[in-house]
Parts: sequence; structure tokens; C-alpha cells
Amino acid sequence: MPTVDQLVRADAVHRDIYRDPAVFELEMTRIFKRTWVYLAHESEVAEPGDYVTRTVGREPVVLVRGEDGVLRAVVNRCRHRAALVCEHETGNAKSFRCQYHGWTYRNDGRLIGVPHPERQSADVRERLGLAVVPRVESYRGLVFGSFNPAVSGLAEHLGPAALGYIDRFLDHCAGLPLTAHRQAHRITMPANWKLQLENGLDGYHAGFTHRSFFDVMRRRTGASVRFASGLPTATARAFRNGHTAIDPETTSRKPLIQRVSTLPGAAAKLDALRAHVGPQRFDEYAGAITGAGINVGIFPNLQLIGIHLRRIEPVSVDRTIVSVRPLLAVDAPPELNWLRLRYHELFYGPAGFGQPDDFEMFDRVAAGLADSEDGWLRFERGHGAETETEDGETIVGNVTDEIPQRGQYRQWRALLAGETA
Ligand code: FES
Ligand SMILES: [Fe+2]
Repeated sequence: MPTVDQLVRADAVHRDIYRDPAVFELEMTRIFKRTWVYLAHESEVAEPGDYVTRTVGREPVVLVRGEDGVLRAVVNRCRHRAALVCEHETGNAKSFRCQYHGWTYRNDGRLIGVPHPERQSADVRERLGLAVVPRVESYRGLVFGSFNPAVSGLAEHLGPAALGYIDRFLDHCAGLPLTAHRQAHRITMPANWKLQLENGLDGYHAGFTHRSFFDVMRRRTGASVRFASGLPTATARAFRNGHTAIDPETTSRKPLIQRVSTLPGAAAKLDALRAHVGPQRFDEYAGAITGAGINVGIFPNLQLIGIHLRRIEPVSVDRTIVSVRPLLAVDAPPELNWLRLRYHELFYGPAGFGQPDDFEMFDRVAAGLADSEDGWLRFERGHGAETETEDGETIVGNVTDEIPQRGQYRQWRALLAGETA
């Protein structure tokens, strides 16, 4: 196993971090079992008994709201002989019964039923409840868990700069609260999880990887496209603890609305939306169709992009599940959510014009990791030209600078070296 310093430099990473199973093992324990990991949006587990199954690193957990209304994450592993006690992705249950020998646990983890208890020691129920993830906290509906009882509070871990960007993202919808769509696109990619980590905050690639999308939009709208990468005011940012953002900082939503209006059926829906909300508020609502216009990355496994929450779930060194879950506006004119979803689908999901192109690039990177003289992948764009905000919370530069990636790998390095949590 190479040392951390052989794997990562300030402006580059070694290819082994994407392909060495020993590095992956270390990431699962030193990153995913030590820091805060995003689990779900609170609206997915709104009612007592609502649950979703997740993994933290490779440990299966159930995030479940108890009958007392408290959100807990219990380890999805029977204390008898280790079978999963909950095999569904989502549902509502007062209790979970292990199908192997029938042990039953209440949804707060307590063991409440052991078949033929006369053959068990008297204290089996007290001793063998489901293990509970020691820390669960949420910020504005985003629920995180940590196996590290000593990890700092979630808000402190996120820090003021990342919190500001999360707020901006969650406030993008004309002042309406947001709820998570019941369905998500779940895409299994045959690539290392960090390719998605880097790519979601990559302000450099869009004009190339997504060229065909912009060409189609140009043909449909008749308007040429200015990439964020061409805007001198657009920024890339790194915050504390590996959290990041890219911010086009463009005030005009016009080009995006033009794209929306080319969708089949959209013209009538836009008219209906205008009738619903009135001409004064129409621009604000129309602006909310395409999302906040910023990409926010919360290390290691959450990205807020467009109108969706993206969860990155490492499975093995070369296998990752990426889940893309749209957010819908609560109590909104129905056309608004229809338009949000149709625009989202235009780019994201397996049939979108954009996201599959990123997966294609991950395949090409994986193919290019083969042994050669040069084992390094470079994030040196804009290195040395960054500035720091006065409060010391943010490193900032041009949107195409690889500031987010350098920030992510600073945190990756510190966690792997055991210097932080
Ligand atoms: S493994 Fe769960 S009851 Fe035996
Ligand atoms: Fe992309």
C-alpha cells in the first residue's frame, strides 16, 4: 500500500486512487465511517415508520422515523447471524422482522421478538438490539449520519460559506419549500466514485463533454450559447472540509427559459403558469424551473445541482451508484413541477442529453488509467492564482479553475492521513 503522499499532491492525484482496492478499503473506513455522510431528504421519511435503506461506506443502514417522531439510523444487520433485516429501498414499518430466523426489531432498533425464547438467555432482548448510528443531524431537510461519535456538529462541519450556498440552492424556488420526488434515477457506473465527486463540480468540461447538448439547444432556440466557462465573473470555490461550489453568477435566466420553451408541451404550460401566478411574479417562477443555477458539493457524497440532490454511493473500487433525485415545490401551481421535471429530464438521467456524456468520459478515464510512464491526473488549472475571501472561509477563482477538485483532495488526504474527521 503506497503512502498518502505517494497518492496525492497539491495539484494532482495518482491513478492508483481510482483502481487500488486497498485505497478503497481505506476510504470506506477513514472517510465514510468517520465523517458526515448524506443519507436522505427529510421529506423521504416524513411520517412515523417511514424508512429508506442506505449505505454508509459499505455498511447497510436504515434511516427510519420512529413512532416518537425521532429520526434514527439503525444498522441493517440482524444481531443474530447478520442477515439484512430490511430488504426494501423504502417503505413504512413499525418493526423489521429478519426473514432468516424471525427475530423482530422495533423501528427504533429494540429487539422485541425472538422465536422460542425459552432456549435463549433471559437478557437476549436487552443485549441484542440493532446497532444505532451514533450521530444523525439535519440541515434544512438534508439528513446526514456519522459513525463517528466525536465528529463535530453538522453545521460546524459544513461551515458558513457552504451553508450559504446550500441556502441559496434550497431557496431557489420562488420562496416555496421543496420536497423530494419519490423516485430517483439510480445509475450504476463501472467507475470509481471520485470521478463523480470531481465531475459534479467541474466548471471546465461542459463546453466539450456536453457539446452535443449545446448544439441541440442552439438548433432548437436559434440562440448561440455562452458557456459559463467563457464568463470572466463565474467562479469556482472551495470551502472548509472539502465542500465546494461553482457559481456562474449570471443574473440573466433568459437563455435557460428559452431552452425550457422548446420542450414539447412547454409553451402551453408556461402560459398556464403565467395565468396562475400573474405577470408580476411570472419571471420569478419561470426562473425557478431550471434550479438555482449553482452546483454545490458537500464532501464526500452529496451534490446539489439543477433541481436535484445527487447522492454518490461507492460500491467497490470500480463500481458506484449515482442517485439523482429531483426536488419539487410544495403547494406550487402544478405546471411549475411539470416544467421542472421535464427540464431536468432534458439533461439528467439515462435518457438525458447531458449526464450520459459524463459517464462516457468516466469510461474513457478508466480506460486511460492503464500503466504508463505518467501515473498522474492533474488538477493544476489556476493553481497559485486563487484568492481567499477575507473571512478565510473560501478559496475562489475562475469557474474553470480546478479549485473544487484541489479542495476535495485536500480533505480526502487529511481524512486518509487521519488528520481530521
Ligand atoms: S439471522 Fe436474523 S434471525 Fe437469524
Ligand atoms: Fe457534466
